Amino acid sequence: MRGKSKKASGAKELLSKVDPAKLPRHIAIIMDGNGRWARKKLLSRIKGHEKGIDAVRDVVEACREMGIQYLTLYAFSVENWRRPASEVNALMRLLRNYLLKERDNLLKNEIRLKAIGDLDRLPENVRETLFKVIEDTKGGEKMTLILALSYGARWEIVKAALRIARDIKEGKIKEEEVNPDVFSSYLTTAPFPDPDLLIRTSGELRLSNFLLWQLAYTELYITPTLWPDFTKEDLIQAILDYQERERRFGMTSDQISELHAKR
Ligand code: IPE
Ligand code: IPE
Ligand code: MG
Repeated sequence: MRGKSKKASGAKELLSKVDPAKLPRHIAIIMDGNGRWARKKLLSRIKGHEKGIDAVRDVVEACREMGIQYLTLYAFSVENWRRPASEVNALMRLLRNYLLKERDNLLKNEIRLKAIGDLDRLPENVRETLFKVIEDTKGGEKMTLILALSYGARWEIVKAALRIARDIKEGKIKEEEVNPDVFSSYLTTAPFPDPDLLIRTSGELRLSNFLLWQLAYTELYITPTLWPDFTKEDLIQAILDYQERERRFGMTSDQISELHAKR
């Protein structure tokens, strides 16, 4: 108990250092390391995933409290279907339980749920629950929580390219009108701004087929902390680190300073 209140005061102190005017509008997280967390504790991988869900709750709550507008969580990649069936089944069960349990909380906190990925591949009961929670929470205006499920960026980009080709063929759009903005509008992430900050836990230095298009100018933050150990303090630390960065988008540092001075 004492440990918990000490932690809470640590988060408060860190939070006071955050500049509310420079918050990332959209944070995306590759939640990695559940299996290693479990192995270190001599537990089954499933236990690691179960503990990972507690971290999801904490991070969603913290983002909502801080006023982050969009949070995308990479929960299951299209490549994760290749894992042993027992692990895939357990992940699907945990996902459905999370959605069933979290529905009321999302509603109460005015959080809108969305999902990206090849959702047709999800088991029917998971898909039904997912679509129901998405429908129930569609009025949530305070934050958008996007779950990347059965998601793969290459799959998403190929789908977009095919849809553009079809629309050109059907005369809905002209070939010369296709540019990066138009391309973005064909992706499943079209309604959301690109992420400002990408966090990956467990220290892996790769994107693992996550939002390859959308992350073009995103600030990257990689921490060795394993996902089940990731706390609100870790999230705030990542935001503080982000706030120290100069985002130049190809321009020079002087140009960026001028732009800020003009504002
Ligand atoms: C992330 O943890 C969760 C999913 C990919 C579903 P992992 O299960 O990848 O954990 P590690 O990387 O094996 O430690
Ligand atoms: C990325 O983690 C996918 C999710 C976090 C859902 P992985 O554990 O699947 O990534 P790799 O295989 O180590 O690149
Ligand atoms: Mg992993």
